[in-house]
Amino acid sequence: MPNHLLLRESGSQPINGNFCFHLYERQLSLEGIELNVNISDVVLKTFTNSSKNITIGGASKPVDCFSKYRVNIVVPYRRRPEQLRVFLHYLHRYLQLQEIDYRIIVVEQSPEMHFNRGKLFNVGFVESQKRFPSDCYIFHDVDLIPLSLNNIYACTKMPRHLSSAVDTFDYELPYCGIFGGAVAITSQHFQSINGFSNLFYGWGGEDDDLYFRVSQAELGVVRFEKNVAKYKMLRHEKEVPNPNRFVTMKKNKIIHAVEGLNNLNYTMLSYELKSLYTLMRVHL
Ligand code: BGC
Repeated sequence: MPNHLLLRESGSQPINGNFCFHLYERQLSLEGIELNVNISDVVLKTFTNSSKNITIGGASKPVDCFSKYRVNIVVPYRRRPEQLRVFLHYLHRYLQLQEIDYRIIVVEQSPEMHFNRGKLFNVGFVESQKRFPSDCYIFHDVDLIPLSLNNIYACTKMPRHLSSAVDTFDYELPYCGIFGGAVAITSQHFQSINGFSNLFYGWGGEDDDLYFRVSQAELGVVRFEKNVAKYKMLRHEKEVPNPNRFVTMKKNKIIHAVEGLNNLNYTMLSYELKSLYTLMRVHL
């Protein structure tokens, strides 16, 4: 598995000291970071105060070695504070154990329109590339919790579907083109497929469309074994599926090349460096 992982941007070398020995080389386990699915504001505050190695904006990197992997993690968000607390409380500890050089970026959509997951990812990508560019992106839902430390949060040569074994699907793929939840892709690949579609307002379809874009570009998709790609989905009410998504998907098969990152428009409402994440509030 490790051989598939891409090292951080070429040319980067540790100035002093050595590259980290990552988990697969050290055989560590998740011990010590059990998942708590009820995290109050107070608990999160205490966690923040005790997390000396997380810099404002929700970035962190190992202190005594140079990480081989650098990644921006983009999380689309609206009105799920309980889940965001659980996610941040768990993921920071998880990524630090993996010795990743990372930043968590939350892109929050204003209330007027239906939620547009794909467009929020596009905004997160474009804005992050301006401010703290990375060669590797992970597009991640807030309700998904990785359960194996061997699921290294880094890019592979081919786009990777990280969350291919989710508990709510009995750890099976419901269909072979499923590409939602958490996906890792290089910036170069993401740009080459023109990002996500901007057209999917409401639940569903944008991830299937991304799979189509990746397939059209013949990039291939990689998934790690089930025991590595295991996730827990946090409980929430099921969203109402967008009934138009199939029509949009069909149309997109023709227009995908001209619709996506290249015609993205949005209004940035605010940009804030929170203690545990970078927050971008946007109107779509
Ligand atoms: C939707 C996808 C979703 C999948 C699994 C499909 O019908 O179009 O967006 O990820 O179901 O829930």
